[in-house]
Amino acid sequence: MRGSQPTFVGRAHELAQIHAAAGSAAGGQAQFVLVEGLPGVGKTSLLDEALKHCAD
Ligand SMILES: Nc1ncnc2c1ncn2[C@@H]1O[C@H](COP(=O)(O)OP(=O)(O)O)[C@@H](O)[C@H]1O
Ligand SMILES: [Mg+2]
Repeated sequence: MRGSQPTFVGRAHELAQIHAAAGSAAGGQAQFVLVEGLPGVGKTSLLDEALKHCAD
């Protein structure tokens, strides 16, 4: 898969939490989500994946 993004795996629970927060925010209820972890654990990848399904 040279030159393409690696396949995102797992993190179903975290994605569901982010999408739930996004849904509440879209409904007018402000949300704050904190993503923490050691360098390389997958914070940026998680948010990139979540945003694919939160275009609005
Ligand atoms: N859920 C995942 N599935 C596949 N690869 C992942 C996943 N999470 C992270 N990676 C890979 O691990 C590496 C580090 O991820 P990254 O999101 O940059 O970490 P962080 O932002 O926490 O430092 C990247 O090469 C990324 O593609
Ligand atoms: Mg990062």
